[in-house]
Amino acid sequence: MGTSQHLFSEERSAEVVAASFAGTPDPRLRQLTTALVKHLHAFVKEVELTEAEWGYAIDFLTRTGHMSDGARQEFILLSDVLGVSMLVETINHRSGGVATESTVLGPFHMVESPPRALGENIALDGKGTPCLVSGRVTGPDGEPVPGAQVDVWQANDDGFYDVQQPGVQPERNLRGLFTADGDGRFRFRSVVPRYYPIPDDGPVGELLAATARHPYRPAHLHFIVSAPGYRPVTTHVFVADGPYLDSDAVFGVKDSLVRDVPEVDDPARAAEAGLPNPFRTLTFDVALLREDSTAPAPS
Ligand code: BEZ
Ligand code: FE
Repeated sequence: MGTSQHLFSEERSAEVVAASFAGTPDPRLRQLTTALVKHLHAFVKEVELTEAEWGYAIDFLTRTGHMSDGARQEFILLSDVLGVSMLVETINHRSGGVATESTVLGPFHMVESPPRALGENIALDGKGTPCLVSGRVTGPDGEPVPGAQVDVWQANDDGFYDVQQPGVQPERNLRGLFTADGDGRFRFRSVVPRYYPIPDDGPVGELLAATARHPYRPAHLHFIVSAPGYRPVTTHVFVADGPYLDSDAVFGVKDSLVRDVPEVDDPARAAEAGLPNPFRTLTFDVALLREDSTAPAPS
């Protein structure tokens, strides 16, 4: 065999470069680097990337890095709008058709939610349509999970999270950490979530605009539910009938997570909940997998 087999050529580029990683001691790193090279080279060949396009891509990624800091993660946002965040989330948190499905964490869980008593109001800015949110946390066989931790956060009625509007919204507006009761039940007062745009003033917004995509997410309320002995779930509940349910900018919607938010006109119930009458209700039961269960297969 002559040396030409080992030298770079258009035809053999992927094999030659992948071979340079063949001695990687860690087998997983070897698999990742080799597969990355294979797919990257196939992409460049499929589109016959021009030098100007390659230069644009380098500049785009450089600007994506410069846009990122402790509060803004433009690379994750890029992963979000490319559907990679949802794919990684879904592969790593299969529900087995038993547990509540997961969805993206998003960038706005950057502060700890304040512990609150069951029934408390998380809408501190007084905006929006009052809504009683409740549900029950169970295990895969329907057994209640007493004391489950239910961490929730949502955007306000103007479409912003508290951390996006310091000094405008009250601190920790629309956030709460609740402890489910002895029967796994939780409830709190809030407002009906509203759709909002993801941050689109950086390179990711430029990508969305250039490709005629909108930046909106359908109305949702974020949850992280956890309990000792169970796998935590990071998810949202989405409001049925709102805009963008079938075109979420980050592909986070799953059918099983969409709920109606019916109006209740019942002065006695309103008084009991501490809400004006009429009010809306959102019910979201959460089923967790046990920690020691085997990872479910793709569904
Ligand atoms: C969110 O739902 O908070 C979110 C998720 C992904 C990107 C931007 C925002
Ligand atoms: Fe969100």
